[in-house]
Amino acid sequence: VDTNTRREAVVATTYREAIEFADINWDSLGFGLMPTDYMFMMKCSQDGKFTKGELQRYGNIELSPASGVLNYGQGLFEGLKAYRKEDGSILLFRPEENALRMRMGAERMCMPAPSVEQFVDAVKLTVMANKRWVPPQGKGSLYIRPLLMGSGAVLGLAPAPEYTFLIYVSPVGNYFKEGLAPINLVVENEFHRAAPGGTGGVKTIGNYASVLKAQTAAKAKGYSDVLYLDSVHKRYLEEVSSCNVFVVKDKIISTPAIKGTILPGITRKSIIDVACSKGYQVEERQISVEELLDADEVFCTGTAVVVSPVGSITYLGRRVSYGDKGVGIVSENLYSALTSLQMGLTEDKMGWTVEL
Ligand code: COI
Repeated sequence: VDTNTRREAVVATTYREAIEFADINWDSLGFGLMPTDYMFMMKCSQDGKFTKGELQRYGNIELSPASGVLNYGQGLFEGLKAYRKEDGSILLFRPEENALRMRMGAERMCMPAPSVEQFVDAVKLTVMANKRWVPPQGKGSLYIRPLLMGSGAVLGLAPAPEYTFLIYVSPVGNYFKEGLAPINLVVENEFHRAAPGGTGGVKTIGNYASVLKAQTAAKAKGYSDVLYLDSVHKRYLEEVSSCNVFVVKDKIISTPAIKGTILPGITRKSIIDVACSKGYQVEERQISVEELLDADEVFCTGTAVVVSPVGSITYLGRRVSYGDKGVGIVSENLYSALTSLQMGLTEDKMGWTVEL
């Protein structure tokens, strides 16, 4: 070993030892809120410009009872993750994509939004202030939750006179209680998530409250979650309450096309690119429920769920299982390609990760 290599090894060891982790059990993370040290807050009044925000201790916020978000649901959220690399440093995954999606949603919800730079800088600041909560590699990730809300008071229906952008974080493990095991979905036949011309294509808070009734009923019957059909034909796949859906047939991967009623997932988009780079044929199009039942493999994608294989689908009382209770080969391939990239285990040829 030459002197330089030895010096590098010593630096690396010192760095690893210097990492401070929060004193929690890192082996039992699920997808639950764990209060952390700091949150970021930034306000914007009528001129549409956000003032310089700042970190505050994590805790409850003060809000007018007449605020736009509480009364009329004028609010958006985002979700992204920070991962710990093997050497202890931290990687963000495509934060500027979340910034752009928040800007798109803000336009639909009549809200001013932070610039991409303001958003990304605030995410970096918040993660660094809470860096002891970024799990050790392989134990989970730090889920970052940016919120944009009409915080000003309004009584008559109108856009709020003041807006608040807030970021909080929580360390998380697997989203579904099944862990990495395949989930069981039920196709919802009565309720719909979104309608053409509505807000299904943006990450507004109300989209998530409106799926709770069907989701709660499905969970009570032992399903993991609900898969929604389009509200016009009641036949074509839309998305699951918290994630996008993909079907695989004869090695061709298909996912519902983005047309205003489903969320343009950043994991969805990344999986499409990863699959194409691995030589798979990927189609974004209308997919009927009959095709879903006839698929070889089904999986879901999302920031929270990552890539979750689907073990069975139930539609109008008929249950179809995929594979032999195992994880499908395509889901497995894509899951490991994406997560290795996110954790810095493989070279990021896509330029998606941002090192802090
Ligand atoms: C995410 O995947 O980040 C989401 O926003 C879904 C949420 C329902 C947990």
